Amino acid sequence: MKKMKMGITNCLCYLLLFLTLIPNFTASQVLFQGFNWASWNKDGGWYNFLITKVPELADAGITHVWLPPPSQTQRDGYQGYLPGRLYDLNASKYGNQDELKKLIKAFQDKGVKCISDIVINHRTAEKADSSGLMTIFEGGTPDDRLDWDRSFICVNDKPISGTGNPDTGGGFVDAPDIDHTNPRVQKELSDWMNWLKTDIGFAGWRFDFSLGYSPAITRMYVANTKPNFAVGEIWYSDHSLEKQDDYRRQTVKWIEDAGGEVTAFDFPTKGILQAALVQGQLSLLNDSNGGAPGVIGLKPGNAVTFIDNHDTGSQKTWPFQDDKVMQGYVYILTHPGIPSVFYDHFFEFFNGGLKSHISQLIAIRSRNGIKPTSSLRILAAETGLYVAAIDEKVIAKIGPREDKVAELIPANFQVVLSGDQYAVWEKKA
Ligand SMILES: *[C@@H]1O[C@H](CO)[C@@H](O)[C@H](O)[C@H]1NC(C)=O
Ligand SMILES: *[C@@H]1O[C@H](CO)[C@@H](O)[C@H](O)[C@H]1NC(C)=O
Repeated sequence: MKKMKMGITNCLCYLLLFLTLIPNFTASQVLFQGFNWASWNKDGGWYNFLITKVPELADAGITHVWLPPPSQTQRDGYQGYLPGRLYDLNASKYGNQDELKKLIKAFQDKGVKCISDIVINHRTAEKADSSGLMTIFEGGTPDDRLDWDRSFICVNDKPISGTGNPDTGGGFVDAPDIDHTNPRVQKELSDWMNWLKTDIGFAGWRFDFSLGYSPAITRMYVANTKPNFAVGEIWYSDHSLEKQDDYRRQTVKWIEDAGGEVTAFDFPTKGILQAALVQGQLSLLNDSNGGAPGVIGLKPGNAVTFIDNHDTGSQKTWPFQDDKVMQGYVYILTHPGIPSVFYDHFFEFFNGGLKSHISQLIAIRSRNGIKPTSSLRILAAETGLYVAAIDEKVIAKIGPREDKVAELIPANFQVVLSGDQYAVWEKKA
C-alpha cells in the first residue's frame, strides 16, 4: 500500500518536472501593453483602474501584461521613465506599492503574468553634490543599497560627466547614464529586479532603451534574474522604409549578443506593415526570400510584434493609421512572432475599442496552436492584396482587393472572421 502511494507520488513528480521543463515560449503567448502615455493621470490611480479590467483581459486570452515603470521618478517624469529611488514604489502617479501588488495578484489569480518596465540605462539623482551637480542618488531603502554618487555615472555622459567607465551604448539626455560595467551597479540592480520578482510579484521584464548599453549587459541582467519573459526595446531612430531591413538584421544580432533567449520588439515589422498598408503596396510584406520582411522573417521566436505603443501611438512619434489598425492586428495575431496588443486599441479605439475582433483573433491563434515559430507561406503579396497561410491551418487576407481571393483559398477552408479589408479562414474540421 505504502509502496503504491510512493509510485503515484513519483509519477506526479515526473509530470510536474516535465511540465516545468517545457520551454516558456512554446505556448501561444499574447502580450498586452497595460497603459498609455496619459495613464498616470487617471482619477483614482491607474493600478486601481486596471484591476477592474483583469477579468476581460484574462478572458481575451492575454498571457502577459506589461505595466509601466513602478518607481519614484524625479521632476515631471510622471510616466516613470526618469526613475530615481528605485525601491520606492509609493511615490508613483500610477498608485502605491500595495495597490500594485494587489493588481499583480489579481492577474496572477487569473493565470496572467505581469512584466515590469525596467528603466536602468539612466537614473535621476536625489540631491546635488558640493559642486552643485545632481549626482547624489538614493535607493529608497534605510540602508545604502542603490545610494550612488558621481563615480557611478559614465565618464562621457552629457551633460553631467561622471567618473565611471565610458558608456557601452547610446546616451540619454534627460538623466545621467549609469555605468553598467561597475560590479556594484550590476549587483544592486540585479538584487532590485529580484526583489521586484519575489516581493512585488513581477514575472519578467520589458527593458527600456536597450540600445543605451551593450547587449552583454542585458545578457548579464537576464542571467542574474531569470525572468519568465524578457523583451528589449531595440528602437532605431530612422523610420524610413529603406532602413528597416538593416535594422532587422541589427535587431537579430542584438538578440544573439544578448544571449539568444531574450526577445526584442519588432519595430521593422511595425514600420513596414504600416507603410505597406498606407501605400497599398502589400508586396512590401514579401521580402526577397519570400518570407516576412520584419524580424519575424529571420528570428520569429524572439520577435515581439506590435502595432503601436506609448511612444509611437500615444505621442504620435510613428503612429499607425487609424483605419489600418485592424488589418495590422490581423497580420500580427495570425503570423509568427509573439504578438502584443496595445491598451488603446483594445479598449478605446472607435468608441469602445476593437476588443471583440482582437479577442476573436486571439481565439483563432490559440485554437489553431499558432506559435512564435509557426510556418508562414505567402500566397499573394501585391498591390492591394496580401494573403498568407500559417501552419497550413489559418489563412489571413488584408488589403482592399477581393479578386483572386476565391481562387487562392482552398475549398476546405471557411471564413471565421471578416471586416473592413480583412478576412481570416480556418481549415474545416
Ligand atoms: C511603501 O509602502 C509599503 C506599504 O505601506 C511599505 O511596506 C513600504 O516600506 C513603503 N516603501 C517605502 C520606500 O516607503
Ligand atoms: C515573393 O518574392 C519572391 C522574390 O521576389 C518571389 O519569387 C515570390 O514569387 C513572391 N511571392 C509572392 C506570393 O508574390
